[in-house]
Amino acid sequence: MLIFLDSANIEEIQQANDWGVISGVTTNPSLIAKEGRNFEQVVREIAAIVDGPISAEVISLDSEQMVKEAETLARIHPNIVIKIPITPEGLKATKILSRQNIKVNMTLIFSTNQALLAARAGAAFVSPFIGRLDDINQDGMGLIEETAAVFRNFNLDTQIIAASIRHPLHVTQAALLGAHIATVPFKVLQQMVKHPLTDAGIEKFLADWETVKNK
Ligand code: E4P
Repeated sequence: MLIFLDSANIEEIQQANDWGVISGVTTNPSLIAKEGRNFEQVVREIAAIVDGPISAEVISLDSEQMVKEAETLARIHPNIVIKIPITPEGLKATKILSRQNIKVNMTLIFSTNQALLAARAGAAFVSPFIGRLDDINQDGMGLIEETAAVFRNFNLDTQIIAASIRHPLHVTQAALLGAHIATVPFKVLQQMVKHPLTDAGIEKFLADWETVKNK
């Protein structure tokens, strides 16, 4: 499973990229708003750091405007992927864009049927939102499992991005269930690196080394 960073913060993206673990970045209007910066500028900076798919979301609700926005965003960099919410207009825009070889990441996916429709319309990626389902007492991980099974049954090329990840266990479970990608907030990426036994192990090795270093 590949790891994308779910962030629009340039420092976080630079750091995660320096660790060599991320293969792409996802943004959304809320993540952009958190940075309080110009959208296109942020996307341009991300694309200059990370060599992989960079999802940038449209905010129009009708397909014609979605396509126009997408074409503008796609011109920023060849790695830009257009994030479009799953609606009838979104599907229409996805069909048009996929025929123009502009990749779509269909977002706000909360059911297997929505994921199937997105794949049929030509989306390169679908983003099932695990955490937001868990938040309302529904099984987010079950959605990854079902979607992965359906895509496998019919050899669909669309890649599953486990999104709305809240903690490291979500990442492990998504990988076990066959998500192609997990998009992970920087805090979760930091948690994934940590283990108390690693910290204790380093401390012990250094303490032991102190006793022999001058011998
Ligand atoms: C990424 O594609 C999604 O927009 C993001 O993971 C949503 O996360 P949230 O539910 O924590 O806002």
